[in-house]
Amino acid sequence: MGWIRLILALLGLVLAGLVIYWQLIVAEGTYLGPGVVALLYDWSAHVYERIKQFDVGDEQWFLGLPLVRALSLIPAPLVLDVATGTGRLPRALLRQPAFDGRVIGLDLSRRMLRQAVERTAQFADRLTYIWQDARRLPFDDDTFDAVTCLEALEFTPDAREVVAELVRVLRPGGVLLVSNRIGQDARWLPGRALSNEGFEQMLHSFPLEDVKRQSWQMDYDLVWAIKTGRPQGGGVRPLVEIARCPACRGQLNREARGLRCQDCGCDYPIAEDGVIEMIGKRAR
Ligand SMILES: C[S@@+](CC[C@H](N)C(=O)[O-])C[C@H]1O[C@@H](n2cnc3c(N)ncnc32)[C@H](O)[C@@H]1O
Repeated sequence: MGWIRLILALLGLVLAGLVIYWQLIVAEGTYLGPGVVALLYDWSAHVYERIKQFDVGDEQWFLGLPLVRALSLIPAPLVLDVATGTGRLPRALLRQPAFDGRVIGLDLSRRMLRQAVERTAQFADRLTYIWQDARRLPFDDDTFDAVTCLEALEFTPDAREVVAELVRVLRPGGVLLVSNRIGQDARWLPGRALSNEGFEQMLHSFPLEDVKRQSWQMDYDLVWAIKTGRPQGGGVRPLVEIARCPACRGQLNREARGLRCQDCGCDYPIAEDGVIEMIGKRAR
């Protein structure tokens, strides 16, 4: 009977290993909550770009160039990249000579943002990074000319909740660019990765038109859309004009070392590397 126990124990170990591999490597912590997702990205931030091996030509062709074209009629466009990671989208956009706007990048992993700061240092005067959860974007409604979110929706507890936020802060007539998870691994993300039809259906439930899917990478399609409504506003605006307190949506004022909510008094420090730390907020 001893060998049966041994086999069962081995099977148990293999099974536990497979579950751990699925949860931490394939699903990247998504079923364990945003805290675990952020922790895993914090741990892997220093090797992220080495693993991804972004090709500069592809990044320009699929991201930088089409976005610049889509924004060509807006003088100095304002772009928000949600779940910016190591600053891939800001880099693709700011490398385009025709882009004369500004980009705000937001992410839940502080170490990914540190990498982003280093890798986009040459564009620092046109970039702001914010440490914050995508489920509560710290901005006023109808603010950005373009809102992007690449390779991230499936790692949030409810993609719909995040898309609602992306659309809320996008101004009417603005461009939404998101990615949908496809390919082999998508089947191991039940309840997180949506079918192409399901994803497009979800987008159509928001005030979006011109929803277009485009083949992109092995694991992701790109989806473009325009926010419906009479185009209004547009262009770069000072941060304090558009930023809102993530705790109470109050107006933020610029203080010596960060931002302070004039309603609830929460402080949001600006760290030494320039990142605005909204997750590390301090009540007054
Ligand atoms: C695969 S990376 C993609 C990064 C970048 N968009 C790119 O294409 O290289 C996923 C990113 O989503 C971020 N993320 C996951 N959940 C998030 C959330 N709830 N709010 C903000 N960022 C989140 C992670 O920290 C990570 O940087």
